Amino acid sequence: LEAFFSPKVLAGKAVLVTAGPTYEAIDPVRGITNLSSGKMGFAVARAARLAGGDVTLIAGPVSLATPRGVKRVNVRSARDMLQTVQAYLPERGVFVATAAVADWRPANSADQKIKKDGSGQTPELSFVENPDILATVAQSAAAQKGELFCVGFAAESHDLLAHATAKRVRKQVPLLVGNIGPATFGQDDNALLLVDAHGARELPHTSKQALAVLLIQDIAQRLGGAQA
Ligand code: CTP
Ligand code: CA
Repeated sequence: LEAFFSPKVLAGKAVLVTAGPTYEAIDPVRGITNLSSGKMGFAVARAARLAGGDVTLIAGPVSLATPRGVKRVNVRSARDMLQTVQAYLPERGVFVATAAVADWRPANSADQKIKKDGSGQTPELSFVENPDILATVAQSAAAQKGELFCVGFAAESHDLLAHATAKRVRKQVPLLVGNIGPATFGQDDNALLLVDAHGARELPHTSKQALAVLLIQDIAQRLGGAQA
């Protein structure tokens, strides 16, 4: 794959990638999470590194090996992920949000394990919304000036193009990547739909590793265009 990146299209560029699910605690032994293997995000981090980027990967709980040459920081909750992203966010470069962030967390997480009381009663859970990491970053001054190029992902169950288009505008990102389903979770391959202000382009079905390389090549071209 290294051969795909000569010249190194991201040489000298800082790249921050989020990957995997987040985990939101209910109590010390239980929580809620999303389905995400982290494979796509790890593949993106690896491809960005192969392209010469200076890559930091902020990973939720997944069991995947860190790609060679990539700096990895493990996080658990959406709020951890946001804080860590902000700590490592470059002023110039690329931010790719592949993480499946939990949209909500339990409003109160118990300090001690919740025990059954023997009556058959179940606990009542209520939720609060988590911060939107991608939208927060995309609204930063660097992103608005075009110095930090933000890329979002979207997994939709239906009407991918319409939802991805609306999501791109809502989150104010130049590029939104749709997973062309169904159910790519945990799989080694996928197909992607790249949606930008001008329309959509499909990256046909292949391995996530190969798709990541094609996506990084696409992003590098957009950076080149923006700088010219
Ligand atoms: N995202 C994020 N922080 C969140 C929710 C989502 O950074 N709290 C990012 C994801 O990493 C992804 C993009 O936003 O890059 C789209 O995520 P998605 O779940 O598809 O969109 P939502 O805005 O959460 O809308 P919904 O789940 O209702 O479709
Ligand atoms: Ca969501």
